[in-house]
Amino acid sequence: MSGVRREQPAPGPAIDVASALARADEQKWSFRVRVRRQDGPADTRSRRWDEFELPWRPGLSVHDCLEAIERDPRTARGERVRAPAWDASCVEGRCGACTMLVNGRPRQACVTLVDPLMLETNAASLELAPLSKFPVLRDLVVDRSSARAALRRVKAWVELDREPAEPSVTPSRRRLALAPTAGASSPCIGCAACLEACPELHAGSLFVGAASIHEAKLAVDLQAGSPAADERLDALMGPGGVAECGKSQNCVEVCPASLPLDESIASVARAATKRLFGRWFARR
Ligand code: SF4
Ligand code: FES
Repeated sequence: MSGVRREQPAPGPAIDVASALARADEQKWSFRVRVRRQDGPADTRSRRWDEFELPWRPGLSVHDCLEAIERDPRTARGERVRAPAWDASCVEGRCGACTMLVNGRPRQACVTLVDPLMLETNAASLELAPLSKFPVLRDLVVDRSSARAALRRVKAWVELDREPAEPSVTPSRRRLALAPTAGASSPCIGCAACLEACPELHAGSLFVGAASIHEAKLAVDLQAGSPAADERLDALMGPGGVAECGKSQNCVEVCPASLPLDESIASVARAATKRLFGRWFARR
């Protein structure tokens, strides 16, 4: 695996995970889940880890683990604590709300199964933490509004030439709602895993990230030749735009929708260069 950050979870109970899974019917066993805690936004002093012990059963997802902890929020040392907060909505891998760091890698809690993770590390333990590139609201819940702001910056929507059927829908809401439809072909679920994994996204960076470039590219394709497409390209050529991609390809590696993000970025970069030359020749 290339540049995506990985952390080994703290060692769990000494156990050979592969043989425990093989003998699962004969023997009951438990595993540990370490959860990063923070009591509120910006409350960094309350950061800590809580460790929970859960009975293993086949087919458990990370979301199932969090639900089990919520039902009985008692640490492995028997201390009763507040149940961890995490986001979830569709619980079938379609909305991206539950994306968090599982063993240091951005994954969707609802569709990430425990067994393959434990086999991968041969440790009867998992580590759950909030995405690190977004402000923590509480425990595993983060504020991903910067990802939506990036979509706005590159105008990743398709202009409508008709009034909304619902007058209460404001233009900005209408446009953002269109972002994922910027092609019926765009299954971006807005999970922000690509932003989390991108080395160019750090404090102080303006880079809009792969998802916005991909969405904007679909919108450019749909409106090629229109003033809207040029305006969108100009935004993508500005500060924080496509030129800031460092080509690590981490985004491709973590995208749960397997989107061709590298191809979208390359295509936008080519279109930007063409537009730059076009302008240059027009001035001569
Ligand atoms: S491009 Fe992929 S990784 Fe990025 S937000 Fe969309 S679905 Fe998630
Ligand atoms: S809850 Fe929707 S992707 Fe996990």
